[in-house]
Amino acid sequence: MNALKPSHEGRVAIVTGAARGIGQAIALKLASHGAKLVLVDMEEAHDTARMIDGESLIITGDVSSAPDWQRIDQTIQSRFGGTDIVVNNAGIGSEKIIDDLDIDLWRKTLSINLEAHFLSAKQFVPQMRREGWGRFVNISSNSIGLAIPGMSHYMASKMGVIGFVRGLANDVANSGITVNAVLPAITNTRLTQDMPEEIKRQTWQGQAIKRFAEPSDIAGAVAFLASEDASFITGQAIPVDGGQYKIS
Ligand SMILES: NC(=O)c1ccc[n+]([C@@H]2O[C@H](COP(=O)([O-])OP(=O)(O)OC[C@H]3O[C@@H](n4cnc5c(N)ncnc54)[C@H](O)[C@@H]3O)[C@@H](O)[C@H]2O)c1
Repeated sequence: MNALKPSHEGRVAIVTGAARGIGQAIALKLASHGAKLVLVDMEEAHDTARMIDGESLIITGDVSSAPDWQRIDQTIQSRFGGTDIVVNNAGIGSEKIIDDLDIDLWRKTLSINLEAHFLSAKQFVPQMRREGWGRFVNISSNSIGLAIPGMSHYMASKMGVIGFVRGLANDVANSGITVNAVLPAITNTRLTQDMPEEIKRQTWQGQAIKRFAEPSDIAGAVAFLASEDASFITGQAIPVDGGQYKIS
């Protein structure tokens, strides 16, 4: 029997927010499937790079900056020759009920959590079209279906991700490019570390699988959507949430 070829061998994958949390787990999963990893974060992702056996490249940058995306692209061009997979994972969250939410935090949240996905598409769709192959996997959140106060800005950004994915999928459908969203459950990362334990417990108790998700629980679905095997799946929003989000 032939040995199985790693599913992402030869692919170059950008993961944003790769220094820790869900982004780090996604980067490790894609690397274990044979991809060359580009670790983009505001912080230098040395910890993640150390855990990767194969090739990786650390690039610091702000995903809400168009010039930073141009620099990221140029750096990848000179090291790896191009980009096949973009995982838009970097994100911020904060709890602010509408009375306390100001326009600056609203804009910052929309800019990092949503506008960055548009900037990445503007930067990488042309080369993916030329190659006739590409994958965008954009991280949304299952919180869009939960009744948690203080999340209007965050939920707007994460719903926006789904709208953007649905629209972009149509624009690139005939170029071998797929675009999908993954909606993680509440997950054990720095983003949720200050959330009261009671709120976390109440949230995961609403799942069919009653435990707090770990970053590695999210990574497998992202790797699948970024693979050749998922070539007929596009424009979808896939909950990876232990069975919390119910179709209604
Ligand atoms: N943790 C959860 O419960 C949960 C649930 C659903 C969705 N998500 C989403 O998953 C993604 C990852 O979240 P996490 O829990 O791993 O968070 P985290 O705070 O642990 O990690 C986020 C990473 O993104 C980086 N980052 C932030 N702003 C950036 C910017 N402007 N440019 C580049 N990098 C930036 C940070 O430096 C950090 O390394 C986010 O989009 C988040 O909204 C998280």
